[in-house]
Amino acid sequence: MALVSGYHHLTMSTHGAQEDYDFFTRALGLYSVKRTVLFDGTLPVYHLYYGSRNGDASTILTTFPFKKPGIYGRRGTNQSRTIMLSIPQGAADFWVDRLNGLGIAAQKSSRFGLTRVMLAHPCGILFELVENRDDRRAPIVNTAQGTSEQTAIKGIYGASIAVMDATTMDEFMDIGMQFQRAAKSEEGLMFTVPEDNGLHSVVEIAVDRDSPQGTWTLAGGTIHHLAFNTVNEDNQYALKARLEGMGYTDISEQKDRNYFKSMYMRSPGGALFELAWTVPEGWAKDEPPGAIGESLVFPPWFEDRRQEMVDGLEPMTF
Ligand SMILES: [Fe+2]
Repeated sequence: MALVSGYHHLTMSTHGAQEDYDFFTRALGLYSVKRTVLFDGTLPVYHLYYGSRNGDASTILTTFPFKKPGIYGRRGTNQSRTIMLSIPQGAADFWVDRLNGLGIAAQKSSRFGLTRVMLAHPCGILFELVENRDDRRAPIVNTAQGTSEQTAIKGIYGASIAVMDATTMDEFMDIGMQFQRAAKSEEGLMFTVPEDNGLHSVVEIAVDRDSPQGTWTLAGGTIHHLAFNTVNEDNQYALKARLEGMGYTDISEQKDRNYFKSMYMRSPGGALFELAWTVPEGWAKDEPPGAIGESLVFPPWFEDRRQEMVDGLEPMTF
């Protein structure tokens, strides 16, 4: 069995917290899954989670809005480039009309034979809504926001990564991560992420030798990392050992993310990868099941900093 089963989440550094919240919940019709703060460093920065109502793995998008501290990054090559979400077959026109109506420029395109709606998050990060006929997940219907069984986003389809040179990334994805190479053309490389439940998600690699090097820091306007689901701790350590055996010795120690446990590593193409598994309590660790994402919560080790952090965060209306 593969050591990874699908995506766990995708994480971005964005700009304003309010515009970020409105983009994911109002424009894309996703649900707030958790509102907490950045666990690393000392700056008070939100960590906002969006996804399905119950926060299912493979639907989670997370953001660190960096407008308040005023830290901005540069999009470029050797960096993750595009967040791709899955939509039902035939839903692209609905999304083009809906997004343009909301003042978010969107247009149809195609890559690897799939119809896509191209748009950008208000902070500039590229998004694509991809008509994925192989996705059997239930759409994340949000009637209050006007999405339906026929149109609603289903979760993560994947991400694309821009690289100066695809060769080492190709080997890393194939031999290291054991993802299956599904396409190799002038459009780039496409790898299928192994999934125990037969879902279909991908990582795309695009060669870009012209753009400047993208920043790797936590800084607004850039994708920070792609997190893959190892499902459990044994798989996480087994994949760490496998990659270390290839010479990738810079995999981090396991970090406690309260709801899941994570390791991080820099892929040879520059994009940061995370290996994560959800702890048994999951999102219900600090909010009742059925009411997740409704309050601002702090991990136990930040309780003594709660007021200082609240005072430093951008005011938001949820
Ligand atoms: Fe993460």
